[in-house]
Amino acid sequence: MKKPIIIDCDPGLDDAIAIFMIINNPNFNIRAVTPVAGNQTVDKTSKNALDLTDYAGSDVPVAIGAARPLFKKLVTAEHVHGKTGLGDISLPHSHRAFSGLNAFEMIYQEAERHENELEIIALGPLTNIAITLLKYPDIKEKIKRITIMGGSCGCGNDTPAAEFNIYADSDAAKIVFDSGIPLTMVGLDATHKAMVYEEEINEISGYNNKVAQVAARILTNSLSFCRKHGFEGSVMHDPLAMACVMDPSVISTKKLRVDIETKGAFTNGKTVADIFNVTGKKANADVAMDINRERFIKILKKAMMDYGV
Ligand code: RIB
Ligand code: CA
Repeated sequence: MKKPIIIDCDPGLDDAIAIFMIINNPNFNIRAVTPVAGNQTVDKTSKNALDLTDYAGSDVPVAIGAARPLFKKLVTAEHVHGKTGLGDISLPHSHRAFSGLNAFEMIYQEAERHENELEIIALGPLTNIAITLLKYPDIKEKIKRITIMGGSCGCGNDTPAAEFNIYADSDAAKIVFDSGIPLTMVGLDATHKAMVYEEEINEISGYNNKVAQVAARILTNSLSFCRKHGFEGSVMHDPLAMACVMDPSVISTKKLRVDIETKGAFTNGKTVADIFNVTGKKANADVAMDINRERFIKILKKAMMDYGV
């Protein structure tokens, strides 16, 4: 039985590879892609979602989501993902139309249709999911799991305390983390270990298909950016989260209580993980603490190989 999945994302260079990894995987029934403002404005992340899925040969519906955070001002990551949101990658423009539903209606529709089966992989700010929960509170009981690329038990990457996806809309993140929906949090503690090394990038660039070529280009550009920040390989945040959906054994997790700071002058957007359970609060997330990097690389390589070698 194919698992029904919605990909909520802000493509986004690493989002692009994550989308390529799963969009045609026979074990999954990708019900929709729901772009959100984050790495770039939602008009750009939505166009990128259409172009990327077209490029991968998929006609999955793309349902446009939120143009800005719930209350905060939109701050994009243009310095990382470029003016278009896809760096220097230019793909053929899709001629497909966007879905007639917006992201919130799409998520609600699919949660109703696939009650207790639908999973969401969230690769950007959590605004779309929060708005859906506010508009349709009853779907809390109907979503099987949300796997979130976001947060960190340790340092941040957008501020010293907060990771980008959570910081971008900490109010939305609070709504999602307090929802009671089963959550897997794939934060920087795990994704900073999801490095793709130069020789592995070279291998992927040797696969004779257009998707692997784009992925290799993204990985190569990311490698030089990551090296400047002290990493030996290309850190792949969203692809690791996607790999966890495809094979949960890629990460080891701990059940923890995670609260979202929404007020702190220096800590807004911090995922406050109660490692020693000092609060005695019930755990609300399976938090990725370590990864099996070899298994992650195997999944990534196979997904790129499946487009042709
Ligand atoms: O902090 C990394 C996350 O922020 C990734 O999802 C990346 O695409 C950006 O959205
Ligand atoms: Ca992203």
